[in-house]
Amino acid sequence: MKILVTGGLGFIGSHTVVELVNAGYEPVIVDDLSNSDPKILDQIARIIGYKPVFHKLDLSNENSVKELAAKEADIDGVIHFAASKAVGESVQQPLKYYRNNFYSLINLLEVYSGKPLNFVFSSSCTVYGQPEILPVTETAPIQPAQSPYGNTKQIAEEILQDLITSGSNYKVIALRYFNPVGAHETALIGELPIGVPQNLVPFITQTAIGKRPKITVFGNDYNTPDGSCVRDYIHVVDLAKAHVAALKLLEKDNFNGYDVFNIGTGKGNTVLEVIHTFERATGVKVNYEIGPRREGDVEQVWGDVTKSTNKLGWKAELGIDTMMSSAWEWEKYISQNPL
Ligand code: WQD
Repeated sequence: MKILVTGGLGFIGSHTVVELVNAGYEPVIVDDLSNSDPKILDQIARIIGYKPVFHKLDLSNENSVKELAAKEADIDGVIHFAASKAVGESVQQPLKYYRNNFYSLINLLEVYSGKPLNFVFSSSCTVYGQPEILPVTETAPIQPAQSPYGNTKQIAEEILQDLITSGSNYKVIALRYFNPVGAHETALIGELPIGVPQNLVPFITQTAIGKRPKITVFGNDYNTPDGSCVRDYIHVVDLAKAHVAALKLLEKDNFNGYDVFNIGTGKGNTVLEVIHTFERATGVKVNYEIGPRREGDVEQVWGDVTKSTNKLGWKAELGIDTMMSSAWEWEKYISQNPL
C-alpha cells in the first residue's frame, strides 16, 4: 500500500515514514522544505535501509499538486502533515497561515477526489483551548481559536466533515495531537527547530548542551501543583505509530465517513516537572529562571485517550523519562553531526 506523506521530512512526518515502513507500507514523501532539511531523507534511509521517493513541492500551488497526482496516481492513502504551525507567527502573519494551510489541504483533496482514498489529517489539541473539564475528550466543545494557526486546524476539520457529508468517497480520520516530544531511538532523526526554539523540550535540550544560557519558565503562578502550566507530552514515536493505527482502521470495510481521536498519553506534567525529569533522566543540569506568562498559553490540558485505546486500538507506550533521554541523545547527535 502506497501512502503519500505530506510534510514527510518534518519532525512528526519523518518518524511516521519510519513507522509506515516498519508496518509494511510504501511511503512517498512530499515536502516544500520550508521548515525541514532535505538531509533528513538520508537520515531516514539510514534507519529503513533505502531512500523513499521524495517530491519537493509547494502544495498550496494548484498546478504543482496536479503534476504530483499525475506522477503518483496509484496511492492508497494520504497522511497530511504539511502546514505552517507556529502559533506566534500565525498571529503576526494570518494570511500566510490561511493561504498555506487551506490551499494545500483543498488542492490535495480536489486532485484525488475521483477515487476512494484513506486520509489521515494532522490536527491538534489546540482546538480545545482551555477545556472546562479535564482530561479532555473528543466530544468536548471546540473553543474559539486562540490563534490563526489553531483556527486553521478547527476549520480544516470542518472542511473534511463537510466533504464526507457531500458524499465523497474519502474516508477520513483526524488525529488531535497533544505535545509531541522526543526522538527516534537511533538518534538519527528528531526535532529540528529553525532559529530560537518555540517549544519547551528543544529549548531544554539546547540549554542543557550549552547553546542557550538558560530557559525561562513562562509563569509559575498558575493554578497547578507547582504553578507552571500542565501539558500532555507524548513521544513522537508513539505518535507516529498512531498514524499507522489510523490507516488500519480506515482500511476496515465497516469504517465509513469521518472520525477524530485524541493522541496523547492521558497524563499531564508541569513545565517544572519536565525540566526536573530531564535532569534526572540525563544527569544534566538545566539552568532555568521563572519569567512572566506567555500570551495565549492555556493553563492546563491533557487528553482522555479512552476512545483511541478502544476504537483506534492504539495506546502510548513510552514514558516521559524516555521522551527526555531520547531528546537529549538527538541533541548531542545533531550538535556533533550538523546536517
Ligand atoms: C509547552 C509549555 C509553555 C517554552 C505546542 C504548539 C501547538 C501544538 C502543541 C501542534 C507551555 C512552556 C515553553 C519555553 C516555557 N503543536 N514553555 N518556556 O504551547 O503547549 O503547544 O504544541 O499542533 O501548536 O504550540 O507547546 O512546547 O510551546 O509549550 O515555559 O521556553 O512549556 O509556556 O506551558 P504548547 P510549547
